[in-house]
Amino acid sequence: MDNQVLLRFEEFYPVLRQNLKRKRFLHSLGVMHFATALAARHGEDLADAAAAGLLHDCGRLETMEELGLEIHRRGLAVPPEDHEFQKVWHALVSADIAAVDFGITDERILRAIRVHPTGDAHMSRLDMIVFLADYTEPTRRFEGIKELRILAERDLPAAFRRALEVKTQYITAQGRTLHPRSRRALAAYAGPPLEVLLSSPPETRHGASPA
Ligand SMILES: [Fe+2]
Ligand SMILES: [Fe+2]
Repeated sequence: MDNQVLLRFEEFYPVLRQNLKRKRFLHSLGVMHFATALAARHGEDLADAAAAGLLHDCGRLETMEELGLEIHRRGLAVPPEDHEFQKVWHALVSADIAAVDFGITDERILRAIRVHPTGDAHMSRLDMIVFLADYTEPTRRFEGIKELRILAERDLPAAFRRALEVKTQYITAQGRTLHPRSRRALAAYAGPPLEVLLSSPPETRHGASPA
């Protein structure tokens, strides 16, 4: 993408700061920074990763009622498989704000924003970078996060799968249903456990390749 988008971040910041809670705003900055670092490590476009990271939660309104109204106001259609998963609706709104309000036209960036809460069976390198940066940026805290960050720098598909597994454990422990896109992603990115991944050189590992 044209690096000119980076110059427009000064327009995005005040809008994000106003629309998001402070914690969510700081999280967005963390995702932007870690996504940019992963992009540099894995040969992805830095400006694309920065834009997708910064804007991935820009539609995360405070209440589900506000979010529902915003979806209606923007004329967005919630995909049928998302109907019972209100937690992922903000990704749809975020992608629309990025496109309509912030002028992001690159479908790769918009798609990375859309799939960031769930993942999907076919993840591009940028999709995985945003997913992982969202899950492991510096303000996040959970057991195993350091290993996940190391794995994200070494092996994107393996780290994506591991992050999905951790997320799945968290969701099922809460008695919630796993989103069908996450189920498809788990099936598509099956592979060896984390200990094996961290102890073997990258070329001996197997798993789905970035689309
Ligand atoms: Fe999100
Ligand atoms: Fe997020």
